[in-house]
Amino acid sequence: MYLSSVNSSTADPRLLGRTLRRVVYTQDEIAERVRELGREITQVYGDGELLVLGLLKGSFIFLSDLVREIERPLQVDFLVATSYGDATVSSGNVRLLYDPETELEGKHILLVEDIVDTGRTLSRLMDLLQARKPRSLEICALLHKHIAAELRYPTRFIGFDAPNEFLVGYGLDHAENFRHIPYIASLQ
Ligand code: PRP
Repeated sequence: MYLSSVNSSTADPRLLGRTLRRVVYTQDEIAERVRELGREITQVYGDGELLVLGLLKGSFIFLSDLVREIERPLQVDFLVATSYGDATVSSGNVRLLYDPETELEGKHILLVEDIVDTGRTLSRLMDLLQARKPRSLEICALLHKHIAAELRYPTRFIGFDAPNEFLVGYGLDHAENFRHIPYIASLQ
């Protein structure tokens, strides 16, 4: 089955019996947009070292596709952050559970995120990364809901202006499921 033809009436065995409300971005649409983002990023960064930092877990698929579309030297590392003091209530503090081993000072840092929702995670994380004196610091988000009242930093590179629906697939989860679905969809 060719995945871009998946629609809400198709039973996808990866969906744990859940029904799709709709496919928001097909596999082909995502691939084309990621190619464009890669070209844009390749053009923007002239000289200097580029470190692409993926925020786990959500960005893992986007990051791996994106870096293969960037035609200049770069390095890859990851961040694992949590903004929650307990399971349900936001503490407003971002804590790094995994800190990149790579030195950030003097490098172009491109922080890669799957989705900007409230922008809380990103705002705190950017403060923290800025303090490490990178040469530049930019955000690349595959999806942006444009409802991020708390985001104090512009998102330089955006894949899609996303609808305000609960989205899964291409790295995005619901209770840790559905990250491996190669398209982006909303669930019933
Ligand atoms: C999700 C998503 C973003 C963040 C966006 O991550 O991947 O990182 O929330 O929300 P915000 O803009 O309101 O801060 P989550 O904490 O669910 O972790 P995950 O990446 O492991 O899925």
